[in-house]
Amino acid sequence: MRKKPETDRVVLVTGAATGIGAAIAEAAIAAGHRVLLTDIDAEAVRTTAGRLGERAAAVALDIRDPDGWVKAFDAAEAQFGPVDVLVNNAGIIHTGHARDLSLQQHRDIVEVNLLGAMTGIHTALPRMTERGRGHLITVCSMTAFLALPGYATYGGTKHALRAFHHAVALEERHGPLHFTILHPPSTRTKMLEQELADPTSATAFSEKATTPQHVARVVVDAITTKPVEVVFPAFSGRVQRIAGVFPQLIRRLIPVIEAKGRRERQRLINTGKTRLSAVPGRTE
Ligand SMILES: NC(=O)c1ccc[n+]([C@@H]2O[C@H](COP(=O)([O-])OP(=O)(O)OC[C@H]3O[C@@H](n4cnc5c(N)ncnc54)[C@H](O)[C@@H]3O)[C@@H](O)[C@H]2O)c1
Repeated sequence: MRKKPETDRVVLVTGAATGIGAAIAEAAIAAGHRVLLTDIDAEAVRTTAGRLGERAAAVALDIRDPDGWVKAFDAAEAQFGPVDVLVNNAGIIHTGHARDLSLQQHRDIVEVNLLGAMTGIHTALPRMTERGRGHLITVCSMTAFLALPGYATYGGTKHALRAFHHAVALEERHGPLHFTILHPPSTRTKMLEQELADPTSATAFSEKATTPQHVARVVVDAITTKPVEVVFPAFSGRVQRIAGVFPQLIRRLIPVIEAKGRRERQRLINTGKTRLSAVPGRTE
């Protein structure tokens, strides 16, 4: 039997000024929740929240900053009440092959995608446990399963984030908290525009990209259904997940995957569709 949708949860979303985070905030409000949107870009996140009405509020949060996390949780509580759901969404990429990125760029990706998200979970755990309820949702990536050229450190952080998330969920399995991790495919956001600008990210275009609204629907459904892990689209997600276990198989497949991605990337460029975040996409 389908569960009755949960409503009126207090949801804290990171990286909510744009892209997937903004779409999650919008969908969560449409589903009856109240949302504290947070982002490193203070002005942009205020603008986004301003469009979403009185069930939305915004504060600046750089997820690398432990004090900032405490302030964000306090701000949510002051505005709406204690946080019921943390959506750890913010992430960055620096495109290019590992040898061509500076060490600082490698570190930046680790500090945001891994340490930032870990700091959020670490901040949430005692507060939610003391209260006796809470749901930690991690927006990860299919690169948590697949090592791909152009995604060495990005994929490395997503592999590590998945391991951290599931290990903590196991440690907390006798407690009151729920844990969900989601792995979206390529999604039409500014991040994907950044990838489009760099030929080394061709594999991101080997499959049709989805929309932030589609990802957001899956995240908001998860607030009610509390799945342990979601890969999507379901079928190709499962195939990629299995393929990732066999590096020799990926070595054989990668020329085909890259060639397909390069063709689609070139088609997007040739047809002037480089503003991916503005193009409506598939809404399966
Ligand atoms: N777009 C994709 O193809 C795709 C696919 C799978 C997973 N993801 C993941 O989804 C999440 C959201 O990605 P997106 O595509 O919406 O990206 P995006 O670049 O469009 O938006 C990311 C947001 O995070 C914010 N941000 C960056 N650094 C931050 C920091 N230190 N602290 C707080 N906020 C920060 C940015 O200001 C921006 O608003 C990321 O974790 C990403 O890895 C994206």
